[in-house]
Amino acid sequence: MPGMALPHSKARPAAPAARPAINRERLLADLNAVSRIGIGDRGSVTRLVFSVTELRSRQLLVHLMTQAGLKVHVDRIGNIFGRLEGADGPAVLAGSHLDSVVHGGKFDGPVGVIGALEAVRTIKESGVALPCPVEAVCFVGEESSRFGFSTLGSSLVAGQVKMKDLTNAVDARGTKLGEVLAGLGVDGDSLSGLKRDPKTIKAYLELHIEQGPVLEAKGKKIGVVTAIAAPTRLRVIFTGQADHSGTTPMDMRKDALAAAANLIAYVEQAARENASMDKGRVVGTVGAIKVDPGVINAIPGKVELAVDIRSVTGKAKDRVARAVEGRAKEIAAERDMKVDILPIRSEEPVDLDAGLIGVIRDICEEKKIAYEVMPSGAGHDAMQIAKIAPAGMIFIPSKKGISHSPLEWTDPDEICLGAEILLDAMMRVAYGEN
Ligand code: GLV
Ligand code: MN
Ligand code: MN
Repeated sequence: MPGMALPHSKARPAAPAARPAINRERLLADLNAVSRIGIGDRGSVTRLVFSVTELRSRQLLVHLMTQAGLKVHVDRIGNIFGRLEGADGPAVLAGSHLDSVVHGGKFDGPVGVIGALEAVRTIKESGVALPCPVEAVCFVGEESSRFGFSTLGSSLVAGQVKMKDLTNAVDARGTKLGEVLAGLGVDGDSLSGLKRDPKTIKAYLELHIEQGPVLEAKGKKIGVVTAIAAPTRLRVIFTGQADHSGTTPMDMRKDALAAAANLIAYVEQAARENASMDKGRVVGTVGAIKVDPGVINAIPGKVELAVDIRSVTGKAKDRVARAVEGRAKEIAAERDMKVDILPIRSEEPVDLDAGLIGVIRDICEEKKIAYEVMPSGAGHDAMQIAKIAPAGMIFIPSKKGISHSPLEWTDPDEICLGAEILLDAMMRVAYGEN
């Protein structure tokens, strides 16, 4: 197993002979309670960042942490830290997010938050003397569904956000992310005030559903995550000419939606052509489109596309992003219209910590749990915290690989197994057993 150099304090309490057992019923009941907040058609869940439903889910978490006797800290944008004190030194953190996409599922995010809470309160109840503090964490705004800006809370905790990064982050109603943050008293220089001192974090662990089909297809129970693919996001705006759909001849139009349709098809083509470049597993998606005026009897004058390109290698992702930008300009020139390409955010893929990968693998080996060592195609808070501390991720299977959908499902036994492994990994790291 690759070793991880973590600082030791001199008078370290000894590790207990056996791991305490999590309370499965409590874990699943709390997960269910979170799921009911923002529930909609077909059991879907909608908790967009800074919405009333998302706020309520965070309030519930504060309540559960307080009830568990943890020391709760909520920072200015709403990141929540539930801490159990230990002898001294930096803390072992575990967590994820409670916000969701529109009409998403119950598990993407909450499994990691409630799983971490269950691990920390189990440790507390066991009464063991901890050599260092442990914390369950909920990061605000991991999903990019509202503003096109992902991992907001963890990016701020990792000190990765500057004012200029927020410029093009706007929701469907025109509300700017920068304005929402300013309303919370966070702007300009105070953005960096949310950064946590890396010296206070020994390691960060995140339990998450796979959101893909690999574990189920291979009959594996646990994914040991090696790297996280990072997105490049663009807003592309074609401006043509709105006009009467009945009276304007076909050769006298500037149809912004027809231009956008060309680009949507190209995003798919460019990602497919580069899909396996440099083992990059490139994917490209246009997930949202805004049409103005958006009525049946008018030629669309202005169309805005949200483009998402991802890969586990920066090179492959950048190549597709450049190709998409080039093609957008060509399409605009061919149709004699204007195009604006506004970068929302571009991030580098991240490798997770070799020592933590080793810890999670060891646990699976010792417990004879079938596991897969694999990269993550989805983004996670771990990719931000990895920039300031050792970070590791544990995946559990997603039924049929479906996620960001009400059909998202993971069996309760698999959720509990994931939480048990998270607990074990937190304790091994805390006691320096890795
Ligand atoms: C988060 O789920 C993402 O969009 O990758
Ligand atoms: Mn998600
Ligand atoms: Mn997630």
